[in-house]
Amino acid sequence: MRTIDWVDGAVELVDQTRLPDECVTLRVETVDELVGAIRRLSVRGAPALGVAGALGVVLARGDQDAVARLRAARPTAVNLAWGVDRAAARIPEGPEAVLETALRIRDDDIAACHAMGERGAELLEGDRLRIMTVCNTGGLACVERGTALGVAQTLHERGRLAEVLALETRPLLQGARLTAWELARMGAPHRLVTDGAGPYLLARGGVDAVLIGADRIAANGDTANKIGSYALALGAERAGVPFIVVAPESTIDPATPSGEHIEIEDRGADEIVAFRGTRVAPEGTDALNPAFDVTPHDLITAIVTEERVIRP
Ligand code: MRU
Repeated sequence: MRTIDWVDGAVELVDQTRLPDECVTLRVETVDELVGAIRRLSVRGAPALGVAGALGVVLARGDQDAVARLRAARPTAVNLAWGVDRAAARIPEGPEAVLETALRIRDDDIAACHAMGERGAELLEGDRLRIMTVCNTGGLACVERGTALGVAQTLHERGRLAEVLALETRPLLQGARLTAWELARMGAPHRLVTDGAGPYLLARGGVDAVLIGADRIAANGDTANKIGSYALALGAERAGVPFIVVAPESTIDPATPSGEHIEIEDRGADEIVAFRGTRVAPEGTDALNPAFDVTPHDLITAIVTEERVIRP
């Protein structure tokens, strides 16, 4: 299954807002439909956003305003702007050239995720590994296979995975809805834990490595990823557990010197004070909803990309 692809002149993507209840493909024919799909997280995860951005430039058919709207659809994952810019650079050569670049980004992602899975599995020592992760970094966040969850998948395929402990990932539950769905489809052993339980479970023992993805890695190695990653990094440091970031080279942003320069998306109060249309906090409650946090590089044991292992 492909999370996102170019099919008969349009973008087709798995609508992730409908999972795990139903697996529905959405056909997107205009840039504004694609911007809507990105904003409501029908398509999400940094590598998938890179592919969406590039394919979206094909849909823009040279309209520079549309390209700019697409590039700004979400701010934190650098892959979106990266994919848009790479495809847009070929607009002067005509639509075929833009499509060629977008399809190359799609195919490169598939190859990169295989390579990251291999390299990450080689980096980890042990035969029966217990992995903790947050958010969704599986095939749903990319094209076919994942980044951090791709490493868990490779471990599972080699008989080296004891269990994945997946944080549910409030408020939109990417861990509960998407990661648990993917792990079940893989037949990989897993249990869901609340976000707040993560650092405590690390302290209690029983986790061999924390594997996370990334939305933007600054030049100094500071890493923006789903909210909750920083708490896991602190817990991992205290417990002496390796904290490993798995992300493609396209997520490294040399133009951003350090984490304090990364724009963190705030998704507004509605996602916290209500869940699927049902209010859970008293009427009038305000909320603060950063969708990502930044883990300083000194808390990161290694960054695994398709090309190398970086030790920040
Ligand atoms: O808000 P989301 O669901 O797009 O957040 C996604 C993440 O934080 C992922 O961990 C990150 O994009 C890496 S995906 C391989």
